[in-house]
Amino acid sequence: MTSPAVLPSRTALVTGAGSGIGAAIAEELARVDTYVLVQDVRPDAASAVVERIRAARGAADAIGGDISDPDDVRTIVDALIGSHDQIDILINNAGVQHVAPLESFPLAQWHRLLGVLLTGPFLLTQAVLQPMRRHHWGRIINIASVNGKRGDPGKVAYCSAKHGLIGLTRVAALETATDGITVNAICPGLVYTPLIEKQLDDLAAMHGLTRDDTLAQVYLSSIPQKRMLDPQEIAAMARYLASDEARGITGQAINVSAGFIMH
Ligand SMILES: NC(=O)c1ccc[n+]([C@@H]2O[C@H](COP(=O)([O-])OP(=O)(O)OC[C@H]3O[C@@H](n4cnc5c(N)ncnc54)[C@H](O)[C@@H]3O)[C@@H](O)[C@H]2O)c1
Repeated sequence: MTSPAVLPSRTALVTGAGSGIGAAIAEELARVDTYVLVQDVRPDAASAVVERIRAARGAADAIGGDISDPDDVRTIVDALIGSHDQIDILINNAGVQHVAPLESFPLAQWHRLLGVLLTGPFLLTQAVLQPMRRHHWGRIINIASVNGKRGDPGKVAYCSAKHGLIGLTRVAALETATDGITVNAICPGLVYTPLIEKQLDDLAAMHGLTRDDTLAQVYLSSIPQKRMLDPQEIAAMARYLASDEARGITGQAINVSAGFIMH
């Protein structure tokens, strides 16, 4: 019997899928019979994830490109339309981080983070709407953050971009509400990935603490479950939001945060 959560014959594009949360989502969608285009600015990392998916009898291909570049976005979306004539699921996941106090935050890093975390999802959403409308079915899932709902010292560009991504989610949800398309954001809390490892080091330097003290004092002290999340926990939520069962959920920003935030 087919599980209702299986997404047969669907196609998905997952950005930043060469690592961490994106890799977990790509593997989870492939596990439930979705063809996945595994995108990452590091093509070797994307290829390694594709190898794992194929070894588990899933279907996937890798593609490189910088999702903040409009020409690369066109190339990425055209590749999926060219091979499968449809794009059902877009997961805007690619991410970067830079930590510095607001007064000395470099403008170049501001532009870099806004480009990857906000302009990229905007460009990709623009590019997939027409093919999704053509099939009257679509799922756009933006990987935002608890930092889309609360500020954190040292993360001015990241918090600004993630708040903006929730705004993009809401507008896109309203403009597609009668088209069979849903648009939602997932707001992860602290998930153990390479991005967080580096962020912990940078925050430790900024606060003059050790990495362990930063984890304990800056994060775990305010996380009710006192733990970091596993990327698979975010992937499970993405799989559900991508299913037919979740068709009534749109315009939401859903926390998967070990209780970190409750609004
Ligand atoms: N790890 C966490 O605790 C956490 C919490 C909340 C939100 N998030 C969000 O989850 C997403 C994934 O983060 P992660 O922790 O898995 O990070 P990660 O560093 O493990 O993975 C991010 C991936 O994005 C890719 N990437 C970077 N710039 C790109 C670009 N211009 N084009 C295409 N790909 C690009 C990187 O190469 C990398 O493989 C990010 O949007 C991040 O902000 C993470």
